[in-house]
Amino acid sequence: MIFVTRKSTFSAAHRLYNPTFSDERNQAVFDKCNNPLGHGHNYVLELTVKGLPDPLTGYVIDLKLLKDLIDVHIINKVDHKHLNYDVDFLRGIIPTVENLCVVFWQQIENQLPSGELHMIRLYESDQNVADYFGEKVTVPHYELAEAPQYAKATL
Ligand code: NI
Repeated sequence: MIFVTRKSTFSAAHRLYNPTFSDERNQAVFDKCNNPLGHGHNYVLELTVKGLPDPLTGYVIDLKLLKDLIDVHIINKVDHKHLNYDVDFLRGIIPTVENLCVVFWQQIENQLPSGELHMIRLYESDQNVADYFGEKVTVPHYELAEAPQYAKATL
């Protein structure tokens, strides 16, 4: 078995909070990550596909094709977005690096023309990273609060 990995990057904002918690509990649990208007990360996504090389091409999966699939189904939908509000398949979930792995897996697993999805690794920062191997995980969806409004500038 051969494992091939494609690395992608995106930048996005998010806020970690649970709308069923009080403000005090959200602050205690999520601390700085609970900032009401969000904060940003430069994410690194590594997607690993396993399989045997095709005898005619030597590819487990054409990595150019894999790049395009990751762009279409994940990166183009999350890059420069607010993950709590702007992305249809993330609405209502708490956008931790753990939950993002699970939802990204669901976005891409049935799109591969060859090989089998083996692992999604997502770096939220150089220090924080999650690995997911596709075991069944249920990600709860919460009723989404309205996006906070930025103050209008007065000229
Ligand atoms: Ni964060």
